[in-house]
Amino acid sequence: MAYIEWKEQYETGLLGYDAQHRTLFRLANRIYECIERQAPGSDLELSSVFGAFLEMTRTHVRTEDELMAWHHFEPGKTHEEAHSHFIEGLEAIADSSIGGLSQQERLREILLKFKAHFEADDEQTFLALLRRSNFPPVS
Ligand SMILES: [Fe+2]
Ligand SMILES: [Fe+2]
Repeated sequence: MAYIEWKEQYETGLLGYDAQHRTLFRLANRIYECIERQAPGSDLELSSVFGAFLEMTRTHVRTEDELMAWHHFEPGKTHEEAHSHFIEGLEAIADSSIGGLSQQERLREILLKFKAHFEADDEQTFLALLRRSNFPPVS
């Protein structure tokens, strides 16, 4: 079973933006599979999938921060700050010299944060706003 399932209600009609979210979902699910499976070779796969997740996240948060500003959607600074913290968390995992929690624990934690961020009110309210401007109700 997938770690996080894409739902139709997440579509906003903004194709590039939706594609970024879908790619992040796919990569998060692959990271989860690699951790769970622990099959030979999955470490190698994990490092390339993780690299792709980090890059896609960097691209996505830039897009989303700009889109929110463009739409005058201002849930305080909190959403942008959450993005920055999330990137910092990913970079800490990428930097293998940082000790403490095992890499697997860090990855599990980051997947939980990803899911919580996506499902949080800020993000879902913004998706609903985009949906309304891209799919206006038929009168
Ligand atoms: Fe997002
Ligand atoms: Fe976000």
